[in-house]
Amino acid sequence: LMQSPIEPLLANRHIVITAGPTREEIDPVRFISNHSSGKMGYALAKAALALGAKVTLVSGPVNLSPPAGIEVIDVVSAEQMHQAVMKVVANCDIFIGCAAVADYKPQQKTQQKIKKSNSELTLTFTKNPDILSDVAHLAQPPFTVGFAAETQDVAHYAQDKLKRKKLDMIAANDVSQAGLGFNSEKNALNVYWNNGEKNLGVADKSQLALTLMTLVAQRHTEKMSSIK
Ligand code: CTP
Ligand code: CA
Repeated sequence: LMQSPIEPLLANRHIVITAGPTREEIDPVRFISNHSSGKMGYALAKAALALGAKVTLVSGPVNLSPPAGIEVIDVVSAEQMHQAVMKVVANCDIFIGCAAVADYKPQQKTQQKIKKSNSELTLTFTKNPDILSDVAHLAQPPFTVGFAAETQDVAHYAQDKLKRKKLDMIAANDVSQAGLGFNSEKNALNVYWNNGEKNLGVADKSQLALTLMTLVAQRHTEKMSSIK
């Protein structure tokens, strides 16, 4: 059987993608993080490469091997991810924020291990920078795509993030559904943009990534030709 060749819809495009969780350190031996596996971001990076793009992947700590042909920048914390992204995003065409960035970090990382005591322990958290929003609010932003992980009112919250963060597109997944999304092989995505939406259904993350990247390439090309 002949496999139909993939059209290089993203030839000559530079894409920056964030993936995985971030880790926020509490003390020298502890951190707070989340269940993101990085699979969706890595699948997107591979799909973009397959479509002919130059790809930079800014990755939090994951158990995935760096895909061949892709520049990987490893980071740990949200602050580090923010710094790395702002450095590489300036001249890129498309930015996709797929990382599960920690919204908060411990107010201070103690220099010594926190010792157990007989009383309760209270930690105070401060807000991390919003990488996706900062990219979209640049003077000359790339075509910016976000993800929205929601457990309720998926369409409402996703469309709200699209507007508030000034995104070109947002891919929403309902993380309350068992076996989908975080730390799973499969995902189900609903994609929204300012005057449209598309349900990409439930699929393998690599299949879904190729469908989403194709849609991103089409919407990006449309935006470019409407600006000219
Ligand atoms: N994101 C980011 N930097 C952050 C937080 C989120 O770049 N500090 C990005 C994520 O990569 C994702 C999008 O913003 O593309 C939405 O993340 P999500 O956690 O769903 O939304 P938040 O804006 O953080 O709001 P909330 O967690 O309250 O739903
Ligand atoms: Ca969040």
